[in-house]
Amino acid sequence: MAMQDESVRAGTHIRNHMLNFINSFSLKCAVELGIPDVIHKHGGPITLEELVDALAINKAKAEHLGRLMNLLTRSGFFVAANDGYALGPPSCLLIKDHPFSLAPFVVEVTGPIFAGPWHHVSEWFHNDDPTAFQTAYGKTFWDSTSQDPEFNHNFNQAMARSSLHIMSLVKKYCREVFEGLDSLVDVGGGTGLVARAFADEFPDMKCTVLDLPHVVAGLEGTKNLVYVGGNMFEVIPPAQAAFLKSITHNWNDDDCVKILKKCKEAIPSRKNGGKVIILGMIVGSTQSKADDDDDDEELIQTQIFLDLQMMVNYDGRERKLKEWVKIFNDAGFTEYKTTQLGLMSLIQLFP
Ligand SMILES: C[S@@+](CC[C@H](N)C(=O)[O-])C[C@H]1O[C@@H](n2cnc3c(N)ncnc32)[C@H](O)[C@@H]1O
Repeated sequence: MAMQDESVRAGTHIRNHMLNFINSFSLKCAVELGIPDVIHKHGGPITLEELVDALAINKAKAEHLGRLMNLLTRSGFFVAANDGYALGPPSCLLIKDHPFSLAPFVVEVTGPIFAGPWHHVSEWFHNDDPTAFQTAYGKTFWDSTSQDPEFNHNFNQAMARSSLHIMSLVKKYCREVFEGLDSLVDVGGGTGLVARAFADEFPDMKCTVLDLPHVVAGLEGTKNLVYVGGNMFEVIPPAQAAFLKSITHNWNDDDCVKILKKCKEAIPSRKNGGKVIILGMIVGSTQSKADDDDDDEELIQTQIFLDLQMMVNYDGRERKLKEWVKIFNDAGFTEYKTTQLGLMSLIQLFP
């Protein structure tokens, strides 16, 4: 008779959580090996033997690869098919030349720089550092990107590629929010892939990407896109709309109010079409225009993970609607409108 008393279940629960990092690192390994790319190129289900050949790995490790694939199939990345493996929806998003590939993001976020601060969280709870990132490395996240060109490059690339996915949803479901704007400044716009998507979609809109000097150094604009190196806490270049994607969750409430006040200075009055457009997460919001299935539980888990990731690395947070609204009011905005798009929401703020 199977022994399933409470302590057995509790021990299993602990072991599964203790070993949860194996999920992250198996995913990292699959992306680094290029398993999704190989299956995609194969054009259909692939056997273990064919996979070993195509990956050109040590043939003596075929059985070991099978064990890794077993875990990744159980966790929904691949699908068991015809004595082999096929791509599932998550692994399709990990093909490196998929237009919205999350592969660079996976490699970056599972890499040593992001994992490091998690070894210092308990120490951080005792000290005065604003973030465990600072406890681990003695500097802020943004000082690290400015001082480490490779980290700067990899982080910006990972952000940019991951942003294209949500931008496809924005174009599909919220096009009217941007239609008719004569100019837009993407505040903390990184290397400008998102702004380029706007500039291509709306050729009459003048787009400006504002980011830290080391992020935009050497980047060339286009007919309707310019790069400006600067600091959003000092000056934001004027535009009819200020756009912020994945910015506010990197900052505490006081800093968010400062950023939004600077945005307010950069845009015209509401009568003249001025607005701030934020793409960010609203914790507790699970009803989406872009996703009407029932995986709310998974979405809630992601919101909690991302909130802790913001806490550990940036002194930021993910916010519930009432926390967002307080920031909007403190920055002097009187009205807002939200539309949920999967994990994120598009929030329009009117001065
Ligand atoms: C999480 S990334 C988001 C990038 C981009 N908006 C996206 O979603 O792909 C945050 C961005 O804010 C930029 N940033 C940080 N501090 C800044 C500052 N003081 N002024 C302007 N940009 C800043 C970073 O360099 C980085 O590109």
